[in-house]
Amino acid sequence: MEEREQTQQNKLVWNPGTLLSPVPPALVTCGTLEHPNVLTIAWTGIVNTIPPMTYISVRPQRHSYPLIRQSGEFVINLTTAQLVPAADYCGVRSGAKENKFERCQLTPVRAAKVQAPLLAESPLSLECKVRQVLELGSHHLFLAEIVAVDVSPQLVDQQGKLHLERAHLAAFAHGEYFELGRSLGTFGYTVRKKKDPRPRRDTPPSKGPSAVTAGKGKMTQQRRKGQTGRPLQRKKK
Ligand SMILES: Cc1cc2nc3c(=O)[nH]c(=O)nc-3n(C[C@H](O)[C@H](O)[C@H](O)COP(=O)(O)O)c2cc1C
Repeated sequence: MEEREQTQQNKLVWNPGTLLSPVPPALVTCGTLEHPNVLTIAWTGIVNTIPPMTYISVRPQRHSYPLIRQSGEFVINLTTAQLVPAADYCGVRSGAKENKFERCQLTPVRAAKVQAPLLAESPLSLECKVRQVLELGSHHLFLAEIVAVDVSPQLVDQQGKLHLERAHLAAFAHGEYFELGRSLGTFGYTVRKKKDPRPRRDTPPSKGPSAVTAGKGKMTQQRRKGQTGRPLQRKKK
């Protein structure tokens, strides 16, 4: 069979590869608060809801590998756009040779349920305990239970709702870092009933434009000006 052939649908068929994108360039912390290490992990994801489970795939050559294998613990810290330089550095330099926390001005802090520290600079951290190790090939997969979630209070509103969209999270796709930007909708928005835009009888009729049209107007103005910044935050009712 040819290495690169063309299907009837006019797609190029390539050799198998790891091209799933985007993936998170997660900052994974391990070791202890006194002797911590941090490395960048893109091979990670969620694999179960109840109990909440995740995995990280780590090459045995990494300095972090024996730390995670022996302790059975690690923390996945979400990477923001601001943390991308640290994520890149921690992904190309080894903790065997230097203290990456000092070099990247990262702060290890005590976690609630594991000995591995979490990163103060990350808005959300998943504390994990390893349940199984799968020796797959180049990488060994640590299948783990998420035993606690640490979230920055700045991302939580007065009703206790998490606003992860405010965190400016980073994504990694085909060797490049990106900042998450424009929201295209929320879970289930395609089937959700639209709210009745007519004013309720007990509320006085509004003189100005509704929140929806006001928002649209602003967005239109923004586009007219040729701005490509982040979308406007929807105002709270
Ligand atoms: C964006 C990015 C993603 C990475 N993903 C992984 C990964 O999923 N698994 C892995 O073993 N190494 C991955 N690496 C490489 C390690 O982070 C890198 O070898 C690091 O220096 C290991 O640090 P340590 O020796 O202190 O453990 C990645 C590197 C980068 C830059």
